[in-house]
Amino acid sequence: IPLVVVVPAAGVGKRMKANCPKQYLKINQKSILEHTVSRLSSHPMIKKIIIALSHEDEYFSETRLSENSKVMVVDGGKERVDSVLAGLAVIDPHEFPWVLVHDAARPCLTLNDLNHLIEACLSNDKGGILASPVRDTMKQGCNGVIEQTIDRENLWHALTPQMYPTLQLKAAIERALSAQAIITDEASAIEFTGEVSQLISSSSENIKITQPDDLALAEFILNKQSKDNQN
Ligand code: CTP
Ligand code: MG
Repeated sequence: IPLVVVVPAAGVGKRMKANCPKQYLKINQKSILEHTVSRLSSHPMIKKIIIALSHEDEYFSETRLSENSKVMVVDGGKERVDSVLAGLAVIDPHEFPWVLVHDAARPCLTLNDLNHLIEACLSNDKGGILASPVRDTMKQGCNGVIEQTIDRENLWHALTPQMYPTLQLKAAIERALSAQAIITDEASAIEFTGEVSQLISSSSENIKITQPDDLALAEFILNKQSKDNQN
């Protein structure tokens, strides 16, 4: 079945403190957004990639992304969820019954993880997300002191891609937004409706570039991945 991906890329990258939105910072002469899209684009089931851009975006036209026939652009919104919804709005659910959402700021996604997610969702007919188990002992704090330790066994970092039936995700986000629930990822909208999401273990390479020091780490991971693929 053909798959579509929505790539929210309309953020300003405040925490990155760079002089352009972080998705346009370059690693090995290529913008982070281009790295991300070329990974997605190389998957044979992914037929369409909808990128949500800020209406003030000045950088997209300097990339070569519009030459990619799978790529389509929409206007993003104020919050990530608004950008995702703008992407979902242009998807025909008959053409694409399943949709993935993947952060522009995660260029190191492996095809292996992507395949695990797609396989788990399609074979169980249930949406899911890539996630990584928490490694450290987790503390709940209050006013700078520890209140208690949270059992790490059941704690996961929510990553992307997150994959759902197109109609389910759209309805869930619309319901959650109209109830003013806080939606920081697709799964949180699904949780709001009481529906189930699968947790699919991701490799730790799938980092989100958030702060300045993440850039060197992403470069290291991308270089390692391209070296491994040659062997
Ligand atoms: N995003 C978006 N629309 C927004 C806000 C965020 O499409 N209104 C996108 C970002 O471009 C990014 C992804 O959502 O690819 C994850 O968000 P985040 O890492 O928080 O990026 P920014 O919001 O740009 O960074 P910051 O929070 O530091 O400002
Ligand atoms: Mg943000």
